[in-house]
Amino acid sequence: MSTGLLVAVGAVGFEAALLQAAAGPQFHVVRRCVDVPDLVATAASRQATAALVSAQLRGLDSEIVARLREEGVAVIGVTPESSSADEAVLRRLGVDQILSADDMGSFADAVAAAQHRATSPSPDSGPSRDRHGSGAPGDAAQEPGGGQVIAVWGPTGAPGRSVLSLCLAAELAASGTATLLVDADVYGGAVAAMLGLLDESSGLLAAARAANSGALRPDGLAGHAREVNATLRVLTGIPRADRWTELTAPLLRNVVETARRLCAFTVLDCGFSLELDEEVSYDTAAPRRNGATLEALSEADTLVVVGGADPVSLSRLIRGLNDLSESLPGLTPYVVVNRVRGSLGWSEDEIAATVTRATGVSSIRMLPDDPAACDKALVHGRTLTECAPEAKITKAVRAMAADLAGLTAPARRPTGPRLGRLRRR
Ligand SMILES: Nc1ncnc2c1ncn2[C@@H]1O[C@H](COP(=O)(O)OP(=O)(O)OP(=O)(O)O)[C@@H](O)[C@H]1O
Ligand SMILES: [Mg+2]
Repeated sequence: MSTGLLVAVGAVGFEAALLQAAAGPQFHVVRRCVDVPDLVATAASRQATAALVSAQLRGLDSEIVARLREEGVAVIGVTPESSSADEAVLRRLGVDQILSADDMGSFADAVAAAQHRATSPSPDSGPSRDRHGSGAPGDAAQEPGGGQVIAVWGPTGAPGRSVLSLCLAAELAASGTATLLVDADVYGGAVAAMLGLLDESSGLLAAARAANSGALRPDGLAGHAREVNATLRVLTGIPRADRWTELTAPLLRNVVETARRLCAFTVLDCGFSLELDEEVSYDTAAPRRNGATLEALSEADTLVVVGGADPVSLSRLIRGLNDLSESLPGLTPYVVVNRVRGSLGWSEDEIAATVTRATGVSSIRMLPDDPAACDKALVHGRTLTECAPEAKITKAVRAMAADLAGLTAPARRPTGPRLGRLRRR
């Protein structure tokens, strides 16, 4: 069967040679697309299984490349000559099959290789790759980083995801390893306000924009983050909840992969919802509000799930753990019950037994209720580690950080670079 092709190369001198190479019986050109909207619309019609693009196509970015893949269209980047600057640009956008215009004899092989890649799962594909397609930007261009990623998630009802994320990141950093906290809550960021970083443009959205143009590097990511102290950086979150569309799953994945190369630890403060929007909208190509959350959870080496200790919060935690095992099967969460207090009338053992009975999770960490310390940190815009280092909540999170550092890096303690010349601005 002949392969349907889309040709969208913009104003380049080699289009005629490309069309000539595509003229054989194995191929037929479905459409010469004039621009990116034309390309995306034709891809959605599912008449073509491969697209030939060039770095000169205005508006081509990593999201478009990911979108084409989600439509089942393999992407081949065409460059004027081999090893050109255009090739580097295309690779950064996530195009890993490159065809040089001075080697049109390889045309059929390049299309076949791209199609093979598009249909065979990558060796490291986890649940998120399967769910969101294999089109995350920068896959081919980036060396994998050695940093560990810890995602902090919890159900609705403000169980303490942000307090725990910030304190955990601060404690990991206090042990001397470079740590980045990413406020990845798609329902609106809180970490900037917790640190008194008001009127701040979003570091995460700036990093996502750089990722989308294929230009995100570890030093650039560091530039988008705020320095809290010598080893702790913070990527501030979405300033208004309605800007979630700017944080798609492939872009967050690129930010996280880049963070792995920047810091020994990356902590992700995640939004609460796991619902996939397409389950209710039927529009699989529409942006997914919770796509970034699911991406964060499945990218993580360690998934911390936090819930409150009161009866309502505990039942939400149990339901959340069950939802999680349906959405992302195979993950083993590190479960934390927060705000444990005597006035509830339950011992820690009773709380743990309740969670274990309902979810099968046997190892559960308790964090004490400590409103005085939490309020002090909030009011001063500082981390608990800085302003209440001996508080019971801080000590409990410190023990948890030591535990996680051992869990996430069993072979060796991470020795990520210390951040140079850093002070809170
Ligand atoms: N261990 C604790 N002791 C006392 N107060 C706590 C504790 N943990 C969290 N809190 C308080 O609970 C409130 C909610 O915490 P936090 O903002 O971390 O929740 P969240 O899960 O991130 O909520 P959101 O849905 O708003 O993102 C805050 O006022 C915080 O100070
Ligand atoms: Mg929060």
